Amino acid sequence: MKVLITGTSQGIGKAIAVLFLERGHQVIGIDRQQKSIEHSQYQHYECDVRDKDHLPGIPGVEILINNAGTQNKADIDINLKALIHITETYGIQPCIKSVLNIGSASGHTGAEFPEYCASKGGVLAYTKNVAMRIAPFGATCNSLDPGGVLTPLNECVIHDPVLWGQIMEETPLKKWATPEEIAEWAYFLTVTNTFCTGQNILVDGGESINYHFVWKE
Ligand SMILES: NC(=O)c1ccc[n+]([C@@H]2O[C@H](COP(=O)([O-])OP(=O)(O)OC[C@H]3O[C@@H](n4cnc5c(N)ncnc54)[C@H](O)[C@@H]3O)[C@@H](O)[C@H]2O)c1
Repeated sequence: MKVLITGTSQGIGKAIAVLFLERGHQVIGIDRQQKSIEHSQYQHYECDVRDKDHLPGIPGVEILINNAGTQNKADIDINLKALIHITETYGIQPCIKSVLNIGSASGHTGAEFPEYCASKGGVLAYTKNVAMRIAPFGATCNSLDPGGVLTPLNECVIHDPVLWGQIMEETPLKKWATPEEIAEWAYFLTVTNTFCTGQNILVDGGESINYHFVWKE
């Protein structure tokens, strides 16, 4: 299938692109960084997803995976507004089979930085909006909402033993996901799945259900 993925130069987006290429799909990547994948079926556009005037023309996208994201003051512009524009440009058309938005557990819990969790909360709601609008094409739209993933975005805490210990205290399964594990979920939700739509799928090692039951012994 013809697969468009944003943010393919590193981290989760790169792992998703590599998995789709290994399984015989044509992959087009958009990233503001230069190409980091060499494959005959991979085409790279070095472009900022916010740059409406310079986004490439790509007709007939069958799978769209909105992955490009950040954790800084541009969160709303990149994680939410650009994601909406990318989806309206490439995803709402008759060839589409599936749209997957990479959300975050923080869109469910409200944890992390204010702009970040607000941007991801918006992604969760927009996912439902898109699901209704592409259902007439027989297409699905879901969000895949990870907890911690071992990517360059998180290197500052992954390599700090004290902070890492605190993070593991908050994570019932006592580990973070690899980008390759998240890529398998992305593949399942867009290729294998044809009936689950409009859902926000949490893959977070139990982080968001880490409650403390208080009761008299
Ligand atoms: N890593 C985690 O723990 C985690 C957890 C939950 C959700 N997520 C989400 O997963 C997605 C990917 O995160 P990651 O950890 O792989 O991050 P990352 O920083 O390792 O990779 C992000 C990629 O997106 C690209 N990108 C960022 N802004 C862009 C822009 N404006 N235009 C074009 N390209 C842009 C970057 O160049 C980079 O290649 C993000 O949406 C992030 O919010 C990550």
